[in-house]
Amino acid sequence: MQKILVTGATGQIGSELTLALRERYGAENVFAAGHRRPADESLTGSGPCCSVDVRDAATLTALVADHQVDTIFHLASLLSAVAEDGPQLAWDVNANGLVHVLEAARMHGCAVFFPSSIGAFGPSTPRDNTPQITIQRPNTMYGITKLTGELLCDYYHQRFALDTRGLRYPGLISHRTLPGGGTTDYAVHIFHAALKEGHYDCFLDAGTRLDMMYMPDALRAAMQLMEADSGPLRHRNSFNVTAMSIAPEDIAAEIEKHIPGFTISYAVDPVRQAIADSWPKHMDDSAARREWGWQPGYDLAAMVEDMLTKLRTRMTERHA
Ligand code: NAD
Ligand code: SER
Repeated sequence: MQKILVTGATGQIGSELTLALRERYGAENVFAAGHRRPADESLTGSGPCCSVDVRDAATLTALVADHQVDTIFHLASLLSAVAEDGPQLAWDVNANGLVHVLEAARMHGCAVFFPSSIGAFGPSTPRDNTPQITIQRPNTMYGITKLTGELLCDYYHQRFALDTRGLRYPGLISHRTLPGGGTTDYAVHIFHAALKEGHYDCFLDAGTRLDMMYMPDALRAAMQLMEADSGPLRHRNSFNVTAMSIAPEDIAAEIEKHIPGFTISYAVDPVRQAIADSWPKHMDDSAARREWGWQPGYDLAAMVEDMLTKLRTRMTERHA
């Protein structure tokens, strides 16, 4: 990886992955491509930034050519709840945008990282110990675009020998940038509410167990997969990866150990609840462990402690 382009660079993952890539591969070698949501000072001040709409194939391809990009981390996307609000736009951004990225990569010989999701599964998928290869019949537009993305990345690898690699991320928990409108967003909002109000009203019901991961593990997984020796990679697009399988009350109980008196109540959003009920509770990520050495670093207790520490610091800095 000499010259890297990150699409969706101002989002929940991109705002952190861009900085991690700059740290590892040199700030001047990592182009952060945002869209609408403005890049903050830490992105603009630490390396090259630009704006690109991934639906605009010509501009995207010119960007790749002009900067001699050899690796694309393609994060631009609409997340699950937003995608259900506007399925036609979600298809355009998520599916057509990926085709534009893959075509630019084919023309200019780039490797591509594509984040799939637990959303690529559906109600007929086994929800416990979800296998790497299993039934995938997602019934949300987000899931349909994620499964399409996995298949497109496999196709470009087999047909054009493109070095495509991907992960099926679970819900990601982070303190730097708020999530962009997904079903697992509650697992971030709960921390903000705990520190500000000592109470959280959760849009998913008690007992809704889903795979989750703390952001430092998600960043490490992406970079580790892209650096892995290609020889042992049998699955490529996309590897199940997970770090914890938790329900809202599990996070609440762990937060309560740090913030005594913290309480949780439930005001279920039927749209997001239906989406969550169609996703795995716990994925089998043994293929990732076997083929490129995946190992999560944070469990629930370590994640909650770090989230609260980092968010408290951030809030104090903001009010200083
Ligand atoms: P996010 O919503 O925070 O960021 C996505 C970014 O895409 C936004 O900054 C937005 O400006 C940008 N975008 C939207 N439309 C665009 C367009 N037309 N052109 C260019 N950019 C556009 O999402 P995220 O959480 O950072 O997710 C990044 C990727 O990881 C997505 O593919 C998502 O499906 C996947 N993923 C995320 C999670 C999670 O929990 N955050 C879990 C599984 C998979
Ligand atoms: N966190 C994402 C969402 O809820 C999962 O892909 O949409």
